[in-house]
Amino acid sequence: MSVNEKVHILKQTKQLRALHSIVRNKDTCQADFVFYSNRIIRQLLETSLDLLPYEGLNVITPIGQSYEGLTINAKLCAVSVIRAGESMEHELGHLVKGMPIGKILIQRDKTTKKPKYYYSHLPEDISQRHVLLLEPMLATGGSAIAAIDLLLEKGVPEKNIIFVNLLASPDGIERLTQKYPQLYVVTSSIERELNADAYMIPGIGDFGDRYFGTQQVFR
Ligand code: URA
Repeated sequence: MSVNEKVHILKQTKQLRALHSIVRNKDTCQADFVFYSNRIIRQLLETSLDLLPYEGLNVITPIGQSYEGLTINAKLCAVSVIRAGESMEHELGHLVKGMPIGKILIQRDKTTKKPKYYYSHLPEDISQRHVLLLEPMLATGGSAIAAIDLLLEKGVPEKNIIFVNLLASPDGIERLTQKYPQLYVVTSSIERELNADAYMIPGIGDFGDRYFGTQQVFR
């Protein structure tokens, strides 16, 4: 697996590992799954925001002193890959006020096993924006590639896309870095491998089902 300098894996602090230990535990209830996933998602989003372009901004403090600060120098938007990507919108709303959020629906076709595009609704001026592409699970990479290709077709430069991800498989990372060398990837873990059903190992189970409570018990 090749990881280039565009791939940012969160520092494996004790705190992050403790959060992972809760969300990966098969016995964790939905409320805890959501709460602790959100804490990891927040770290992913904070790291992603740091990859945006900034410019200098000097402000005067209440003490009358000048502070040489920074401000984001880019128009932003997020695009969530339905459904799991929508889990990241909640924390994003706490970090950036009023960020437009586009949607992409891509699902694996049961017969061909290939990702099938169904729907998208994106900001009209998306080609001028830096895009946080929200997709917590990167398994085979098929839907991620379909989503990134759509953004590129809409005119978003590859270097302006940040793929925000909670768990990635080595194969998924390999495919993305080979195909899109300019793409930023932010993840909290690269897993060991995929099983025959394309679940990550050790993994987390079905993230969307656990986050949105459509399947209470994962075995
Ligand atoms: N999607 C998930 O929700 N989990 C995986 O392990 C792989 C894809």
